[in-house]
Amino acid sequence: MMELQTIRSVVTSHPSGDARFASLDDTIAHYKAEPTALIQVLHAAQQLFGYLSPDVLRYIAGKLKLPLAQVYGVVTFYHLFTLVPRGKYQIMVCRGTACHVRGAQLILERLSQQLGIKEGETTKDNLFSLHSARCIGACAMAPAIAIGDDVYGKLTPDKVPKFCQKDLKKYT
Ligand code: FES
Repeated sequence: MMELQTIRSVVTSHPSGDARFASLDDTIAHYKAEPTALIQVLHAAQQLFGYLSPDVLRYIAGKLKLPLAQVYGVVTFYHLFTLVPRGKYQIMVCRGTACHVRGAQLILERLSQQLGIKEGETTKDNLFSLHSARCIGACAMAPAIAIGDDVYGKLTPDKVPKFCQKDLKKYT
């Protein structure tokens, strides 16, 4: 049994020899008969690789016997999938109504300025990516942002530089 597991872990059907594809094959085998297979497999692939590269998407399309355009269509439709590498931490600036009317756009612009990245981009050290979301469920604290499970509220554009120097430090 042990010997079989060892062999399984190094055998992959992807020419790169990357063992993560063997793990992806297991997920494909598990879900391929289900109607939600594509979503499940994309989710697993993103967990494994950190993002969905063209190579990974071609591989998935081939394995599930789906047109590549359909796979891209699903990836670009759902916000949770990304075609570019993301940072270790996702900074989500809420742009829901409560936050919008309290200056969410200015918070986003100031964060973008401080971090030196635009929305959707990742800092050079691969630590932070900057995004916006509809409502992060902290309307009473508007304008709010979230980093992982941490929520920061009542921000103002003027508080952003100090926030970056002090609060973001704990993630470094
Ligand atoms: S609208 Fe921003 S937290 Fe709800």
